[in-house]
Amino acid sequence: MACMYPASSNSPDILYPYIEKELKNLLENETNWISNAANAAATLGFLMPLLNWVGFYLYNGSELVLGPFWGKPAVTRIEMGKGVCGNSANSREIIVVEDVHQYPGHIACDLFSNSEIVLPLVKNDKLIGVLDIDSPEIGRFEDIDRIALEKLARIMIELIDFPLAD
Ligand code: SME
Repeated sequence: MACMYPASSNSPDILYPYIEKELKNLLENETNWISNAANAAATLGFLMPLLNWVGFYLYNGSELVLGPFWGKPAVTRIEMGKGVCGNSANSREIIVVEDVHQYPGHIACDLFSNSEIVLPLVKNDKLIGVLDIDSPEIGRFEDIDRIALEKLARIMIELIDFPLAD
């Protein structure tokens, strides 16, 4: 595996196709889901500007449990319907939070987080869990980021053999 380099530009039209290419290169050559999820989180954390946490919470059939991540240690279990992650998992909708301090029930893991996007991961109508991304910048995640991250999440669902709850 070759070293990963930063993108030549952080403009979304250069950055996101580059991340997509790097992710596919990494994930297509490995079958272990933990290795792949860890590398996917680290790839986003390394390549996307202004992030402080990227990681997966996996649904175990009753709640969300912390999976591979990039960033500071985080809360290990999140009830369905609690916090941004639990709400996204319940509704199976992407939630973009411009300012986490204004979000009722937000669960703070890293005091530097000011905005957040959570993407539900669903395969064959079954909930895998969520991909959670935090930024120290208020309003970090715009429409263009949401659309690009939704595509990257689809690639992760396809290429990472996540465990599914019964
Ligand atoms: N902020 C999340 C909790 C997870 S940490 O951000 C890593 C939430 O409100 O669900």
